[in-house]
Amino acid sequence: MAGRIEGRTAVVTGGCSGIGLATVRRFVEEGARVVIGDIDDAAGEALVTELGGPEVVTYVHVDVTSKEEVDALFRTAKDTYGSVDIAFNNAGISPPEDDSILDTDLDAWRRVQEVNLTSVYLCCKAALPYMLEQKRGSIINTASFVAVMGAATSQISYSASKGGVLSMSRELGVQFAREGVRVNALCPGPVNTPLLKELFASDAERAARRLVHVPMGRFAEPEEMANAVLFLASDESSFMTANTFLVDGGISGAYVTPL
Ligand SMILES: NC(=O)c1ccc[n+]([C@@H]2O[C@H](COP(=O)([O-])OP(=O)(O)OC[C@H]3O[C@@H](n4cnc5c(N)ncnc54)[C@H](O)[C@@H]3O)[C@@H](O)[C@H]2O)c1
Repeated sequence: MAGRIEGRTAVVTGGCSGIGLATVRRFVEEGARVVIGDIDDAAGEALVTELGGPEVVTYVHVDVTSKEEVDALFRTAKDTYGSVDIAFNNAGISPPEDDSILDTDLDAWRRVQEVNLTSVYLCCKAALPYMLEQKRGSIINTASFVAVMGAATSQISYSASKGGVLSMSRELGVQFAREGVRVNALCPGPVNTPLLKELFASDAERAARRLVHVPMGRFAEPEEMANAVLFLASDESSFMTANTFLVDGGISGAYVTPL
C-alpha cells in the first residue's frame, strides 16, 4: 500500500539518523513531502539527493534548542510546500554523562532537558499556528518507554525529559482535540540505532540487563518505529489523540519475561 499521506507536508527533526531517518524514508514512500531538521548537514544534503530532490525533500540545518531556528524550520515547510500537516518532533540525545542522579551534574542535566524537552515545546509552539489555521494536523512527539517505567540503570535527566514530553503531548492533545489537531506521544522501547549503540558500546553488561526485560528478546529496528509513526501521522489513527503509544516489544506489559 502506498499513498497513505499523499500530498501532506511533514517536518521531521532528527531525520538524519535512526528512528527519524527511517521515518523520513517511510513518509516519502507514502507520498509526503518532507522537511528534515537536523545538525548533520552532510547526511541531510545527501538524503535530499537520494530521496528525489527538492520537489520531495528539503534539508534545513536546525539546532532544536534554538527558537529562531525551529521557527524557521516550520516556516520553510509552509513556504516550500504550502502546508504543515505532520510534525514528528523526534530529535533527542542520550549522553553518557547523564547517569545516576548521584553522578549527573547540573550542566549534563540541563543539556538533556534542552535538547529532549525544550525542543519539543519549541517545535509544537511553531507547528500549531499552521495546523490550527488549516484545522488539520498530526503532531507526534518522541518520548520513550522510560516515561512510564522506572529503570534501575538510570539516566535521570533523560527519563525526566521523556516524562515531560509525554505529559506535554497529552495536554496538547486534549487542548486542541476539537480543532482538528491531534497530538500523540510515541514511546519506543529500545531501538537498534546509533543512540542506543553508543550508549551500550562501552557497557555490554548494561545492554544485556536491558534485553532481559524485553519479552521479544531483541531490540526494535528503526523501521518498526517508522511504521508506528506513519500510523499516527495518517488518517488511519483519526480517533487517537493525547495517547501514550507504546511500541516496546512487550516491556511495559511484562512481569516476568520468557528466557
Ligand atoms: N534508540 C532508542 O532505543 C530509543 C528509545 C526510546 C526513545 N528514543 C528516542 O528516539 C529519538 C530518536 O533517537 P534515535 O535512537 O533515532 O537517535 P539517533 O542518535 O540515531 O538520531 C538522533 C538525530 O537527532 C539529531 N540531533 C541531535 N541533537 C540535535 C539538535 N540539537 N538539533 C537537531 N538535531 C539533533 C542527530 O544529528 C541525529 O540525526 C530520540 O528522541 C530518542 O530519545 C530512542
